[in-house]
Amino acid sequence: MVSNSGDDQRLTVVIFGASGDLTRRKLAPALFHLYKTGALPKMCHFVGVARSEMDDESFRSALVEGAEEILAYDHEAWDEFAGKITYIRGSSTDDESLKRIDQAVSGYCSDGSTDNRIYYMALAPSLYTGTLQALGRCGMLEESSGYRRVVVEKPFGTNLKSAQALNEVVHSVLNESQVFRIDHYLGKETVQNLLVFRFANTIFEPLWNRNYVDHVQISVLESLDTEGRAGYYDGAGVLRDMMQSHLLQLLALVAMEPPATGGSDALRNEKAKVLQSVSKYETDSAAINSVRGQYVGYRDEEGVAESSSTATFGAIRLYVNNWRWQGVPFFVRSGKALAEKSSEISVQFRAPPHTIFDTHGAEVTPNLLQISIQPHEGVHLTFENKKPGTRMGTAPERLEYHFPAQVIRDSYERLLLDAVEGDQSLFTRSDEIEMSWQIIDPFVEAWQNSLKSQLYPYEKGTMGPETADEFLGENRVWYGHGSEL
Ligand code: BG6
Repeated sequence: MVSNSGDDQRLTVVIFGASGDLTRRKLAPALFHLYKTGALPKMCHFVGVARSEMDDESFRSALVEGAEEILAYDHEAWDEFAGKITYIRGSSTDDESLKRIDQAVSGYCSDGSTDNRIYYMALAPSLYTGTLQALGRCGMLEESSGYRRVVVEKPFGTNLKSAQALNEVVHSVLNESQVFRIDHYLGKETVQNLLVFRFANTIFEPLWNRNYVDHVQISVLESLDTEGRAGYYDGAGVLRDMMQSHLLQLLALVAMEPPATGGSDALRNEKAKVLQSVSKYETDSAAINSVRGQYVGYRDEEGVAESSSTATFGAIRLYVNNWRWQGVPFFVRSGKALAEKSSEISVQFRAPPHTIFDTHGAEVTPNLLQISIQPHEGVHLTFENKKPGTRMGTAPERLEYHFPAQVIRDSYERLLLDAVEGDQSLFTRSDEIEMSWQIIDPFVEAWQNSLKSQLYPYEKGTMGPETADEFLGENRVWYGHGSEL
């Protein structure tokens, strides 16, 4: 790892595709807050690159909007930060533009300071290959004067083949240690808490297996629709947009073995082992092990094909075929335009094998552990308790812990800082990406071509097609943040 602390260390973050929404909404506010709190090296610069006609001033003003909330209490700090922002008009795939950028960045280091750089690809994925090749050609990835790290946004490929091809390009110009494939879910406080919860406590780990767990649910539900991104979304759908990345990463963290150390290799090795063990279905089995839906009105959106069969909702059933999890279904669900926005992992334990209590025919409620990723970040544990009164009866009660809202920072902040510090733990390695596509590709194929797969319409503001409820099987229900006891 190249050191990035010390008085002679200079950092430049170059954002390609800087005129886009991501820079304004996520990257600029995150970098600003990191800068303001002194987390970045003292000598740092931010260079926005895009094709739009803008100068430094107009670029800086365009970023203010994203930082508004933070600005509300600190104009002075913003002005200082904005002074470090430069805009260079150009194209990330064009040598002439890159040379201008290279010259400008090298110029900052004319005092002999170390020229550390992060290139952030906030670009359309179709530009990744050309940009990486051009950066390589122009010698901008060589690490003789400082480190060079590249942050790549999702989606990384659109299937196994394209992800492999992209990884090949990546590895032709970079070492894996220079690549930071971002999945913003891994930067969420509660997702990292999953590691702490599992591996800094002893009480859950002995139960975390097929002997005690009935099934696991991983749900990322959104109330918003495609929000004007239908042009992109129609080619991606819920499988490529959410499941291949965010949801499978969550599954890997829930199901993995305890890593031997806290380092990024140990963690990523364990995640990769889980992904390797997850069911890879034949097309028809993928159809049977999934439900897909599309909200009513989706086809009327701009950028959506009139007869589009793109799924805006999906639920899939996966198995982790190893000693710990054999036979335990993992239900993975995500959708847009639903009744609520909530991301949650629910581990439902088995019901007691025998009850001595008179429950008047009702089942004793099995224990349930819910890890609420958002909103109301925290953990809930449901257990049976005596119903107060003169008779013996049982009722479920819930223990809850919630993080105080003010401690939750945006995930980009954490991930950008990790990239600056060279910590790859929360970034996806090339093998994980490829294995995730191996899991998802059969569903994509089934949803396009299998006669066993049907697209169910659902009304906006509901919880998706009703078929998804039956999909869970008897005595199981979907849990959500709205699910009260
Ligand atoms: C992105 C998807 O990766 O994640 C979006 O492309 C989705 O479609 C978003 O809305 C959800 O992220 P979050 O953090 O709001 O749950």
